[in-house]
Amino acid sequence: MTTVNVSDRPAHDLKADVLVLATVDTDGKAALAAGHGLPRGAATHVAAQLAALHATGAAEEVLTIAAVPGVAAARVVLTGLGKASARTTAFDHEVLRRGAGAASRSLKNATRIVVALPTTGAESVAAVAEGAALGAYRYAGVRGPSAQPTKGVTTVTVATSDARVKAVKAAATRAGILADAKAYARDLVNTPPNQLFPQSFADSVKARNAAATAKVTIKVLDEKALEKGGFGGIVGVGQGSVNPPRMVTLTWNPPRAKASVALVGKGITFDSGGLNLKPAASMLGMKSDMAGAAAVAATVFAAAELGLPVKVTGYLCLAENMPSGTAQRPSDVVTMRNGTTVEILDTDAEGRMVLGDGICLAGEAKPDAIVDIATLTGAQMVALGARVAGIMANEDTFRDRVGTAAASAGESAWPMPLPTDLRSQLDSSVADLAHKGERWGGMLTAGLFLREFVTEGTPWAHVDIAGPSYNEGSPWGYTPKGGTGFGVGTLLALVEGYAG
Ligand code: BES
Ligand code: MN
Ligand code: ZN
Repeated sequence: MTTVNVSDRPAHDLKADVLVLATVDTDGKAALAAGHGLPRGAATHVAAQLAALHATGAAEEVLTIAAVPGVAAARVVLTGLGKASARTTAFDHEVLRRGAGAASRSLKNATRIVVALPTTGAESVAAVAEGAALGAYRYAGVRGPSAQPTKGVTTVTVATSDARVKAVKAAATRAGILADAKAYARDLVNTPPNQLFPQSFADSVKARNAAATAKVTIKVLDEKALEKGGFGGIVGVGQGSVNPPRMVTLTWNPPRAKASVALVGKGITFDSGGLNLKPAASMLGMKSDMAGAAAVAATVFAAAELGLPVKVTGYLCLAENMPSGTAQRPSDVVTMRNGTTVEILDTDAEGRMVLGDGICLAGEAKPDAIVDIATLTGAQMVALGARVAGIMANEDTFRDRVGTAAASAGESAWPMPLPTDLRSQLDSSVADLAHKGERWGGMLTAGLFLREFVTEGTPWAHVDIAGPSYNEGSPWGYTPKGGTGFGVGTLLALVEGYAG
């Protein structure tokens, strides 16, 4: 865990391994950005280094210089914020997050860092703190006994003249909790699927709860309880695997809660496609098919740690989608938790089946709103690419509310429609519902399918994170390779919005 704090002492006087400063791109040449607070001699030294290195100050440019006279830290890391003037003090929060993140991501052998980027109050301090803490994330991996454990960043100090302002201190604390929550979600996604299966996922959330100061209530339904409870969607998807399915509920229920929000996460710990087996290349990366459930679990813990006055219930719909003699078949008809029957057409469309049951269960508690989050369709990536999530909802105002939460968190998402014209694609001749539509608009018909399980009158949104939950490419900003933790920021901001 990374500790985040703030200090109003001069950044160059603070004891640390690294001092992070920002540069800006002024006509193709890097200049120190505002807010560095360096004494003149140090600033001149850094400026000369920037010129000698032909630095540009472009976003993602990160340079390290050592032994700057007048700076206590042995290393100074300069991170580009892109085009701006050397006097600019107000930057877009996501620019600050990425700049701070690119810097901390570049670090080796640093445990204490001080970050002195241009800030203008609590929200920008939060962005710098979040970026720095998120960029410091490393997945430890599964290593043998001879591996050397790597020492990562443990303390991030954000330099700001507002360090004594209550809102600024609170922002730093929140940034630490958020970064820690995202790190948990990333770890879950990165864990190999032979180690993370439904029961071990349940064990992981129990262990995290046991170690936490603010406890949540955890309930686990095993395969027998799921069968008895009529969760035909989850049971059907999970029945092909030797690792049986689970439904895990995590509840943060503070006294005098102002509202209640239900979060439902797709938790397919491995999606082979089932009998409709995926081709080899598409199967790689499918350990990340539980990223929605990971984001939900991490958010409930973060809400508890922040002591938010909102009831938050997370529903983790956990199953492993495997082919075998006991696996679900195309043409099977299963009965979902609310009694709706569904004709299975393609066992690879498993996410909507586990989510359908999860949305039913969430609705039974009559929450003020339901959000489901899922690596649901390849069509999401076709439509929006690998970095932008799709948001669908049964009410435009609620869809926009989720979109605003995403924007504030620096998680790119875009509104998508649920065209009623496409609903007839889900008609079946043998059951109440067919479980997929045509190829075109596959993200939208998946959303329309889920909508069938939402109780009338409850605001509901569906966030498809197939692309942004898992980074197959190079790291960028504060986003590592592999699990990204996408969704935690959106869900937490949404829940906070209900706190008033
Ligand atoms: N988990 C996949 C969706 C996915 C694809 C996530 C690529 C991340 C990257 C999902 O279960 C799936 O297989 N969806 C099918 C649905 C189809 C069979 C209707 C798809 O998108 O092809
Ligand atoms: Mn699938
Ligand atoms: Zn899937």
